[in-house]
Amino acid sequence: MDEVLRLRGITKRFPGVLANDRVDLGLLRGEIHAVLGENGAGKSTLMKIVAGMLEPDEGRIELDGRPVRFSSPRDAIAAGIGMVYQHFMLIPVFTVAENVVLGAEPGRGLRFDRREAEREVRELAERYHMEVDPAARVADLSVGLQQRVEILKTFYRKARILILDEPTAALTPQEARELFQVMRNLAGQGISILFISHKLDEVLEVADRITVMRHGRTVATLRPAETSEQELANLMVGRAVQLTSVRPPVERGPAVLEVADLTVQREDGRPAVQGVGFAIHAGEVFGIAGVEGNGQAELVEAIAGLRPAAAGRIRFLGRDVTAWDARRRALAGIAYVPEDRVGTGLVMGFTLAENLALKRYFLPPLARRGWIDRRALWSEAKGRLEAYDVRPPEPGLAARALSGGNQQKVILARELGSDPELLVAYQPTRGLDVGAIEFVHGQILRLRGEGKAILLVSLELDEVLELSDTVAVMHRGRLAAVFPAGEADRERVGLYMTGGRERAQEEEGAGR
Ligand SMILES: Nc1ncnc2c1ncn2[C@@H]1O[C@H](COP(=O)(O)OP(=O)(O)OP(=O)(O)O)[C@@H](O)[C@H]1O
Ligand SMILES: [Mg+2]
Repeated sequence: MDEVLRLRGITKRFPGVLANDRVDLGLLRGEIHAVLGENGAGKSTLMKIVAGMLEPDEGRIELDGRPVRFSSPRDAIAAGIGMVYQHFMLIPVFTVAENVVLGAEPGRGLRFDRREAEREVRELAERYHMEVDPAARVADLSVGLQQRVEILKTFYRKARILILDEPTAALTPQEARELFQVMRNLAGQGISILFISHKLDEVLEVADRITVMRHGRTVATLRPAETSEQELANLMVGRAVQLTSVRPPVERGPAVLEVADLTVQREDGRPAVQGVGFAIHAGEVFGIAGVEGNGQAELVEAIAGLRPAAAGRIRFLGRDVTAWDARRRALAGIAYVPEDRVGTGLVMGFTLAENLALKRYFLPPLARRGWIDRRALWSEAKGRLEAYDVRPPEPGLAARALSGGNQQKVILARELGSDPELLVAYQPTRGLDVGAIEFVHGQILRLRGEGKAILLVSLELDEVLELSDTVAVMHRGRLAAVFPAGEADRERVGLYMTGGRERAQEEEGAGR
C-alpha cells in the first residue's frame, strides 16, 4: 500500500469556530479520494492546509512517510501538491500557454520564449490526455476548458497530488463527464486526487474512496461499492435526509409574470434571448431546463431588471415593468437569486446583517425617519440566519468568512425570506449540501403553496423535473419546448436541451 499523503490530527481554529478537529486522512498513489460533508464541515479548510494556503494549529502532514511543513502555497507546490480553487485564478487576456507557465516561464533571463512555452504546454496536454489549444486566449474558452488549464498549470509545476475543490459545481453534465475521464487517466498515471463534491451520484461514480466530514471531523471513509447515496447523505448530515421532494397539488391563481416577445442582447450585441414568451401564475413553479449558455442567465437578468430588454414586454402583477430598474422591481416584490454569489449576490466585506438588509435597510422596520435601527437590523438577521441554518449564525461576521455553501444560504435567506410575489432563482442550490438542498426545495414549495410564483432556472435537470409544475427547455435563446409536469420526462426534455427539437418533433409526428 503506497500512501503518498497522510494527515494526522489536523486541527484548525478560526475565531469562534473549530473548522478542523483532529482530522486523519490518507491518500494512496493513483487514488481518487472524494471528500464529502455539510456546508461548513471544514472541507475547503482542510484542502487549503494541504495546499499550504493555511497553517494548521495542531497536527501534521506527511508526504511519503516524512513529516513536512508548508508555510506558503509555494512550499506545497515544491513538494508536488497542486490545488485548483473554485474561483479560477487565470488571466483572461493571456493565452493558455502564458497562463500555464506564468511564474515559472521557460526562456533565458527576462525574455519570454512563447514558442517554447507553447511546445511544452502542448506536450503536457498530450501526456495527460487533456486537449486544449496552447495559443487560445483563456477568455475565449468554456469553463470546462479553463479548468483544464488550471489543472495543467499544476502539472507544469510537477504536481503528483491534485486537489480539486467542487470542480463540477460550474460544469455542465457533459463537461463533468469529460473531467471524470481526465481524472481517471491521471489516476492511471499515478497521480493522486483529492476532490470535494456535494453530488453524491458523481462521488459514487468516480471515487475509489470517500471520506465524510461532519463538524470538522472525519466520520467515515468508505468505498463506493459498500455504500449508497442515502447512507452518505445520512452520514454527512447526521440524520435521515429526504433526497427527493413531493409536490402537493396547488390551485393555480392569476398570472404573476407575463413575458412577451422578449429579446435580450449579450454584451457584444448578439441576441442571447430571442422572442421568448411565457406566463407564470400564482402557485406555480415554472422551471427552465437547458445547457448553460443558451440564454438562461440573460433571461433572468432581464426579468430582475439588471439587463435591458432590446424588444418585448415584461408585466408583473398586471403592470408593465419593462422600463423599471432592478431596485424598483425588488421593492415591488421580485426576489432574485443570482448566478454569481460572489459578484452580484453578496458584498464580501459587509457583515451578514448588512448583506441580509441590502435591499431594505432604508425601509421600516429597519429604519425610522431615515435612521437605521441597528438593533432591529441585528435581531432580524439573527432570526433569518438561524432559520436558514447558516453556520455560524453571527450577524456581525463578514460574508467572506463563511464557507461557500453558507454564503449561498445567506442569499437565499434574504431573497426567499423577503416574502416576494415572484422568486427568480438561478441555480439556487449550487454548492449546497444535501441537507440544505432539502430545506431550500421545501422553501420553494412553501412559497408555491402560499400562492407565489417561482421561476426556477437550473442546469440540474432532476431539480427542474422534481420541483416544476411547468417545464420549459431553453435552447439557443428560445423556449424550444414547454411541458406540463406530467408530460416532461428526462428523455424528452434532454432531447430538446441538446437541440434535438426537429428530431423530437419528427419522431412524435411519425408516432402519431
Ligand atoms: N477565513 C475564515 N475566517 C473565519 N472563519 C472561516 C474562514 N474560513 C472558513 N471559516 C469557517 O470555517 C468553517 C469551515 O469552512 P470551510 O470553508 O472549510 O467549509 P466547507 O466544508 O468547505 O463548506 P462548503 O461546502 O460550504 O464549501 C466554517 O464554519 C467557516 O465559517
Ligand atoms: Mg468549501
